[in-house]
Amino acid sequence: MTKPESKLLAEVESAREQFQAEIGRVASRNDLEALRIRYLGRKGLVSRFFSQLAGLEPGDRPAVGKAINELRALVSGELEKKRREIEFQARRETIFDPSLPGTLFQRGRKHPLLQVLDEIVDIFTSLGFSVETGPEIETDYYNFEALNIPPDHPSRDLQDTFYLESPYLLRTHTSPVQIRAMEKQRPPVRMIAPGRCFRKDTPDATHSPMFHQIEGLCVDKGVTFAHLKGVILTFAQKLFGKEVRIRFRPSFFPFTEPSAEYDFSCIMCKGEGCRVCKYTGWLEISGAGMVDPAVFGFVDYDPEEYTGYAFGMGVERIAMLKFQIGDIRLFYENDLRFLSQF
Ligand code: DAH
Repeated sequence: MTKPESKLLAEVESAREQFQAEIGRVASRNDLEALRIRYLGRKGLVSRFFSQLAGLEPGDRPAVGKAINELRALVSGELEKKRREIEFQARRETIFDPSLPGTLFQRGRKHPLLQVLDEIVDIFTSLGFSVETGPEIETDYYNFEALNIPPDHPSRDLQDTFYLESPYLLRTHTSPVQIRAMEKQRPPVRMIAPGRCFRKDTPDATHSPMFHQIEGLCVDKGVTFAHLKGVILTFAQKLFGKEVRIRFRPSFFPFTEPSAEYDFSCIMCKGEGCRVCKYTGWLEISGAGMVDPAVFGFVDYDPEEYTGYAFGMGVERIAMLKFQIGDIRLFYENDLRFLSQF
């Protein structure tokens, strides 16, 4: 007959082998918990072995007790290892499941101002205008003097700007690019100059200290105001549709003579009168005129031989009309709820 201590020892040993086989088959948290209860639970195997230990001869207890303790240590160590494995696997599956559809990226698009600017540039290049650029940090000479705006001329007041170390300043308009383009080449010149401009303006719904303009200039033999009107009309109709009409009102700019401001018939009400055109039927766009002979003097063009026209326009103003945007500040806030509408 086998002695009780040998029998218990053999049971402990076979429980150990049994456990090792079973732990390998555990696949879920539930399996794991069932196994734990079966071995380490209050009525589990280990606890049963300990109560059987009490019935052994005192001299036999240490050896068998040691075996049971080892079994308990092994079981709890293995259960913990398995628990971590299962957790890790679960986390990996939530982080990356190759069977799920991919994350959709929001596709970017051109800023509405750039869309309009590109459209305007396309229209003028299709009419044979080249595209010129100039620096945003300009000198007093290009921004004012060579445009026939001497120091202390009152029209400088309308174009107060950010002055850097003399003679530098942030350009107040794109007109200086006219001078730079004419210095570089002899007539014929037919160019536009899109770009950023700066003025000391307090931001409100229609003003921003930074904004965009597009300048236009055409110089050749025999260029007249009629050419200017033709180009502006073509531009207006390509941009806003065939029914748009234009008008010129006498005005003053130091670098053009005669000077005018030009308007488009209101694109909202077709000229009937509405809130957008302040019930005039017309939308003010910008200034234009025939290049002042004094300006030709600065670039060494002979005003007896050449004439030219020039015009400007504000890109924000046109984009606001085109997209019916009521506040210029929206362009610069980078709010995707706004930008994604265009
Ligand atoms: N530079 C002017 C401004 O910012 C706009 C302008 C008026 C440009 C008349 C021109 C022009 O080329 O001929 O207010």
